[in-house]
Amino acid sequence: MRMYDIIEKKRDGHELIIDEIKFFIDGYCSGNIPDYQASALLMAIFIRGLNKRETADLTNIMADSGDKVDLSSISGVKVDKHSTGGVGDKTTLVVAPVAAACGVPVAKMSGKGLGHTGGTIDKLESIPGFRTSLGIDEFLANVREIGLSIASQTGNLAPADKKLYALRDVTATVNNISLIASSIMSKKIASGADSIVLDVKTGSGAFMKTFEDSVALAKTMIDIGESLGRRTSALITDMDLPLGNAVGNSMEVIEAIDTLKGKGPSDLRKLSVELAARMLQGAGKGSYDRCVEMAEKSIIDGSALKKLTELIERQNGNTNVIDDYSIFGESKHVYEYKANCDGYIASIRTDSLGIASMILGAGRENKDSIIDYSAGIMLEKKTYDKVSKGDVVARFYTNNKKSIDNAAQILDSSITISNDNLQMRPLILAYID
Ligand code: URA
Repeated sequence: MRMYDIIEKKRDGHELIIDEIKFFIDGYCSGNIPDYQASALLMAIFIRGLNKRETADLTNIMADSGDKVDLSSISGVKVDKHSTGGVGDKTTLVVAPVAAACGVPVAKMSGKGLGHTGGTIDKLESIPGFRTSLGIDEFLANVREIGLSIASQTGNLAPADKKLYALRDVTATVNNISLIASSIMSKKIASGADSIVLDVKTGSGAFMKTFEDSVALAKTMIDIGESLGRRTSALITDMDLPLGNAVGNSMEVIEAIDTLKGKGPSDLRKLSVELAARMLQGAGKGSYDRCVEMAEKSIIDGSALKKLTELIERQNGNTNVIDDYSIFGESKHVYEYKANCDGYIASIRTDSLGIASMILGAGRENKDSIIDYSAGIMLEKKTYDKVSKGDVVARFYTNNKKSIDNAAQILDSSITISNDNLQMRPLILAYID
């Protein structure tokens, strides 16, 4: 078999057989196939596409390229939840304890944030002492004993995807539905859950900007999951505005704790309960209505908050943060970003808000950047809110005073204030299974 022939076949729009996909992935990972040939094939795939079978084969081969987590020592149906990435999306910190409190074991491997989107691991690491780097035995023992563990992805989980993603990133081949779906699902399959609930974001802060593309991505991931024997469903949710009000690591943890205390923002609570209910349903806990009721009850009776406390304790974090938010530490500089006219906020480009927060220190510009956990943006007003000139729209928190002007300029060009009070679009746009 020759890489040249595989590139030519896909370039001319033909279907690749499994052996050809395997030859490509094995050869690229071992270094026998050079970057320039892998790039040529990626571009041919980007233009010509992959069908369902090719996408599932690519996913499975990438999932098999490294370690696979064996969750068979944990009893019950193991359900994973994955968000395609957003701004202010701290749902895992709420959903995982809720699901675990309702008796569904959650063994979650998560990633760090990059670019304008945050990562669960960075948020958890803002809790003093919290360890996310766990050996597999410790990770599994925690799930067996307290029903919940959240750890950073091991370096060897779907390494083929890691290598290929880095190449896609520099060859303008990221934004293809088959490639995104196989990339995400290869890690989910290797993580070992029986059932997967996907939160596919749509809008200005998401990978997929339109509803139609988000549905297509969700359906492709569901097809992959089902064809590989995992019960998979997806919510399509709005990312034209950030979730909750906090964007930045420790501020987001505080907002998640507040939500588990029954005091958080209503959009965060609504989506978290919906995702948790879908996870409970995936684990066979009953009808949708019954699962919503169970998820709500775990917040009202405090059992989900208790589960988060157990998680923090188990992974060596300081559990006093639950009642004393000052332990997180505060930024040296706080800046009030104000409205420059009267009207209604018609839109705030969510990706720009994520970038502004990153510039203040909350995110990584490249993979070696160091995060300032207390930095970020707290929104006082969101899209659809009425504002008067001089009202505080957002508060910036940072330890780097110089970043404030830059962040303010980004917000200047990403907020539109109009005279019209626009119709709010629903947070949860669709459920697909
Ligand atoms: N997230 C991933 O893991 N892979 C992609 O290709 C895009 C988003």
